Formats: sequence, C-alpha cells, structure tokens
Amino acid sequence: MKASLAHTLVFLPSLISAYTWPNPQLDELETQRYDRNGYNARKMTASVQPCSRFDFGVSGGRSNAADWIRTVYHDMATFDAAAGTGGIDGSIRLERDRPENVGDAFANTLNVISVEANRYVSLADEVVLAALIAVEECGGPKLDFKGGRVDATEPNNVGVPQPQDTLESHISAFARQGFSQEEMISLVACGHTFGGVQHVSFPDIVPPSNDPTNTPGQVLFDSTGTQFDNKIVTEYLDGSTKSPLVVGTNDTTNSDKRIYASDGNATVTRLSDLNTFTSTCATLFAKMFDSVPKGVQLTDVIEPLPVKPYSMQLLHGNGSTVQLSGQVRFWNTEENPKRVVKLLWADHNGQSCPTCSTVLSHNQNQVSTFTIGNIKSSWYSFMPASAKSKAPSTAVLLDDTQTISKVWFEVDEGDGKVVIQDQNGVGFALQDSRLMLDNSTCLGYPTHVHIGVAVQKGSNPKRVYFKGDTFSEKNGTAPSLNAIPITKTIEIPKPSGSSAISQGNYDIWSLTLSTSDWTNGPFNVAADFDDGTVETPYMTNYQYPSCVGTLAAPPDPSGSKPTDAHHSGASVGFNFVHFLISAVGIIILSFVFAL
Ligand code: HEM
Ligand SMILES: *[C@@H]1O[C@H](CO)[C@@H](O)[C@H](O)[C@H]1NC(C)=O
Ligand SMILES: *[C@@H]1O[C@H](CO)[C@@H](O)[C@H](O)[C@H]1NC(C)=O
Ligand SMILES: *[C@@H]1O[C@H](CO)[C@@H](O)[C@H](O)[C@H]1NC(C)=O
Ligand SMILES: *[C@@H]1O[C@H](CO)[C@@H](O)[C@H](O)[C@H]1NC(C)=O
Ligand SMILES: *[C@@H]1O[C@H](CO)[C@@H](O)[C@H](O)[C@H]1NC(C)=O
Repeated sequence: MKASLAHTLVFLPSLISAYTWPNPQLDELETQRYDRNGYNARKMTASVQPCSRFDFGVSGGRSNAADWIRTVYHDMATFDAAAGTGGIDGSIRLERDRPENVGDAFANTLNVISVEANRYVSLADEVVLAALIAVEECGGPKLDFKGGRVDATEPNNVGVPQPQDTLESHISAFARQGFSQEEMISLVACGHTFGGVQHVSFPDIVPPSNDPTNTPGQVLFDSTGTQFDNKIVTEYLDGSTKSPLVVGTNDTTNSDKRIYASDGNATVTRLSDLNTFTSTCATLFAKMFDSVPKGVQLTDVIEPLPVKPYSMQLLHGNGSTVQLSGQVRFWNTEENPKRVVKLLWADHNGQSCPTCSTVLSHNQNQVSTFTIGNIKSSWYSFMPASAKSKAPSTAVLLDDTQTISKVWFEVDEGDGKVVIQDQNGVGFALQDSRLMLDNSTCLGYPTHVHIGVAVQKGSNPKRVYFKGDTFSEKNGTAPSLNAIPITKTIEIPKPSGSSAISQGNYDIWSLTLSTSDWTNGPFNVAADFDDGTVETPYMTNYQYPSCVGTLAAPPDPSGSKPTDAHHSGASVGFNFVHFLISAVGIIILSFVFAL
C-alpha cells in the first residue's frame, strides 16, 4: 500500500447573497421557492404541471397558471404607491365579490395556496410565489422573490382596472400603482401572455361557446395561452391576434388595443424582441411583487443556500439518550457514486472528537430539481432506522449529558479532495440543548395530540409553550378561502408532584391537546429563559409517530422514498465546481497524512 495519502481540505466561504443557516423564516421561504420537483419538493409546482393543467372544471384553455398570475395582479392593483396603502397583502381573499374581481380565478388560486401559508410565509407571500412558479415553470425567466409580506385583515379600497374604463383612467390607475405608461403597456402584455377572457365572466365581451370542451367560453389573448412568450405582442403587431380585448366587437371594452397603441406602438414594437420582452417582464413582475403597504419590511432576494441542513431535530428518549436526525441538501450538484458525505459535530463547549462523525446515507431517489437552469440537488440523510425500508440507522445517538452545539459536513468526491462545508467556519448551529422534543410526542388523530418536551435539569424556564400553526378560519378541516395562517400558543404546565417525570439529564413536561385546539399543521415548542427564548426547530414536513399502540421511531422526515441503497457505491454524484466558481474566496489547506 502507498505510504502516504494526500488529502486536500477545501474550506468554502458562503456566498455573499446567501444567509447563514439557521434562519427559520429564510429556511422556509427558500424551501418553498427552490424545492420544486423531486425529492422533498413542495406541492404547489405540481399544480402547473403541465402548464395547461386546470383543476376546477372544464378548461377550454383556462389554466391554474393563468389564474395565479391574474390573482397577483388583482391583489396588487389596489396599491396606492404614494400613500403606501393597498398592494400585495392577501386582501384579494376578502375582495372576491367585487365587480372588478369577477370570476372564480381568485377562489381557485386560494384553494391551492392557502394550505401552504404558515407562520413564516404569509398568504400574501404565497400569492406572489404562485405567480412566480407559474411564470418560471411555463417558459418565463427566473424572477426575484423576496418574502415578508404581511396579510391584511380588512379589504382595501377598490382599484382594479376594468376593460370598459378609458385609456386615461388606465394610465392614472397604473400611475397610482407606481407604474409609468410604458410600464403599464409592458405589464399588461407580460400578464396577458397567459390566459384569456371567458364568456362566463364577461358575457358582453366573449360569445358563448357550443364546444363541450370549452364550456367556460374561453378565448385566449394569444395562440400560446399557457406559455410565457411574446406572441401577445407579435400577434398584435402582425394583425393575427384574436384577443377579445383587442379585436372584440364592442370597441368600448377593447382595453388592450387602446393600451398597446397608446404610445404609437413604440413599446410593443420594442417588446417584439423576445429578449427585451423577457427582461422587461422580469423587472416588472418583480416590481409588482414588491408593491407592498408602507411599513412592511421585505427580506433580501431569496437565494438558494449551497449547503442546507433540513429537518434537523434533536429528540430525547430511551431514558437518557439524545438522537439527532435530519437531512442535508447540496444545491447544484451532480450525482457521484464515489462521493462520501460525513456529518461532524462539536459539543456544547465547541469541542469535536475523533468519534464525533457519521457517514450519511443517500440513494438515487434523493435528488431534486429546479426548473430554471435545470439545477439538480442531492440530499443526504442521517435518519433513525426505518422499519419500512429496513434501512439501518444513520442518526446520531448520544448520551443526554453530551450535547451537540453545531455540525458541519465533509464531502469526499473520491478524487483525493475533501471539501469542508462549515459556513465559513461558523458551522451549522443547532438549537439550544436546554429544550427538545421528547420521543413521547405522538399524534392521536382524530382526537388528540400528545406533546412531550424534554427540559434540561436546572435550566429553570419561566414558561414552556406549544406553538401550533393553523388558520384564522376553517372550512371543515381545510382553511376557508378567507383564511390567513395564525399560530396558536398553548401553555405546557410545569410538571409537579406525581406527574413529574425525570429522565436522565432532563425533566419531561407534557401536554395532551384535543385536535379542536389545533389542526395538523406544523408546530414547535418554545421556552422563555432569563436570557431569552429558545425554540425547537420549525419543521413543516416532520411526521410524528402515532399514539396508538407502542411508540414507533419517528419515520423519515421526508415521508417519501425509503432509504434502501445505503450510501457509498450507490449511484450518487456531484461536483463542487459551481461552489468553487461562485465562492468569494477559497482557502486551500493541504494535509499529508503519513500512514
Ligand atoms: C388595464 C389593465 C387590465 C385589464 C383591463 C385586464 C382585464 C382582463 C380581463 C377582462 C380578463 C378576463 C378574465 C376572465 O375572463 O376570467 C383578464 C384576464 C387575465 N389578466 Fe388581465 N387585465 C389587465 C391587466 C392585467 C395585468 C397587469 C396582469 C398581470 C400582470 C393581468 C393578468 C391576467 C391574466 C393572467 C388573465 C387570464 C386569466 C385566465 O385566463 O383565467 N391582467 N384580464
Ligand atoms: C359596449 O360596452 C359598453 C360597456 O360594457 C356598453 O355600455 C355598451 O352598451 C356596449 N355597446 C354595445 C353596442 O353593445
Ligand atoms: C399599432 O399597431 C396596430 C397593429 O398592427 C395597428 O393596427 C395600429 O394602427 C398601430 N397604431 C399606430 C399608432 O401605429
Ligand atoms: C432509542 O434507542 C434506540 C436503540 O438504540 C435508537 O435507535 C433510538 O434512536 C433511540 N431514540 C432516541 C429518541 O434517543
Ligand atoms: C422512547 O423513550 C422511552 C423511554 O423514555 C423508551 O422506552 C422507548 O423505547 C423510546 N422509543 C424510541 C423509539 O426511541
Ligand atoms: C367551503 O367549502 C366549500 C366546499 O368545498 C366551498 O364551496 C366554499 O366556497 C368554501 N367556503 C369558504 C368560505 O372557504
């Protein structure tokens, strides 16, 4: 055997634009914006696949995608930029019965998006995300997305332009919304590259249809009603357009005709160049998305985190053990069957140790994709053993007197280089070990939920409480179309007397909730200490064991594809070239280990 083995340890500084993990709000916004297809994907994207998909009756050319894009404009159109009122605030849900919001597009959209909203992503953010997903999935450019919109509790003033309004009134409505005449022309074209006008909603503009496949009587604005492209302007300019707002028989309602021609066709002529159309729409969609009331603080543009821990959870159990389970996503990576990924950790004193590492599992199903640029990501797991897939445990199991303060990853591509992913030396900090869920936590649907919390002995919290996400109004078990997400806080009583349970280094506090107190939304637990509040991780996808029968080990957080193929050798692969290129600076340390 060779006498020496060269390892190159590469430390990668984080990207300027990405944030430092963890940040529960940005983590959730990033997930909803980027985890689109495949492993651990969020659901919304599937509703525009294919882009012609329509879930609410006979389509006739109607699509979910077009409804979502119309919805964001109608939520924004109440904006008064100078006064800082109206704008994107989810108030469209309370404005559906107005003549300016005729049709079921808004109810249809709310039906799909309300369930995705939670304490970190408002309904207003979902209104924007839906439109963004429709554009990006259906041929459009990548759009800038910021989060942090706040849901209104009251409807706004009226303000959506209607087809019978005059050109002057349209120019002044868009000016109120903060858009110039040129921007108005462009934004209308960018929106109306999707969808059309239906007889059911506008009987005076579009005639009824005898076609059983088009009972809504939909007539498209351009020949590609579910694709982002500039046919909306090229067909207008070459005279082939059939748009009911351009060549409608009643000229009073030909609003797009008046708008496009309002500067002598100068703007639409520029937009007949596809690149100009695309970049103009990207700018104006982003401007529309950011039209929010005064006082709302939006986040930075959400960029993908290159290395993202996911569903990281410490769980106390077995009397005196702590189990760390979770996953990690490597953004923009190709599969590499030779790759070995290790999780390493340091204890509460920041000390690492020779045995403080575990090799993560991965299989070919653990790949996700992002549409723009066809970016692939690989996921690696550290999970408890799965009875279903017979996969052995790759979770970290410690004695509960030891605690993990932070983790990082070592990625060996099998080419002699080991890349350290530690957020520029900071590591990926875990929750404060004073508080974690206990393995007695279980779901007893349909009647109850049992929350068990392990509180470190002597940590002396002033208060321990459950925080469960639900909706302001429910319609059966679903959110009502008028609902916004709310978080219910419920006190967990301090254990005393015979109910006091001590296990290892922790006291167990517990609470059994009836399901009428809450719904099956994401939850976590918080505690107030003298030096501040500590929360357990916020996880939207964790599946807790059922309370019926014996308590099972928590299942794979992904809830999907079993982890059969156990790590090395499986067809996995990626390269960190993208990271290397985009990293701000690279420090390369070479170590030679003599054997
Ligand atoms: C003066 C401004 C505007 C007027 C008068 C107008 C008018 C209309 C009308 C009458 C419809 C038919 C709706 C139906 O039949 O259900 C429609 C559909 C639509 N509008 Fe606009 N619109 C305007 C601006 C915009 C803007 C700025 C956007 C987005 C950026 C937009 C996006 C859409 C979309 C995507 C549809 C298709 C909906 C579907 O097919 O279900 N509109 N618009
Ligand atoms: C044209 O549309 C306007 C606005 O909806 C309406 O008032 C008018 O009666 C219509 N004209 C004809 C000829 O239908
Ligand atoms: C704008 O273009 C349309 C469609 O080609 C045409 O009918 C109209 O006359 C043009 N208007 C001007 C002012 O050039
Ligand atoms: C309990 O012990 C089993 C067997 O060692 C282990 O697989 C499991 O992860 C432990 N659970 C917790 C919550 O520590
Ligand atoms: C959960 O912890 C209890 C003791 O608190 C232990 O008896 C049980 O085996 C544990 N179960 C799992 C799955 O870790
Ligand atoms: C409640 O659900 C019914 C049936 O799905 C639906 O028709 C109705 O619009 C919903 N109402 C609200 C306020 O969400």
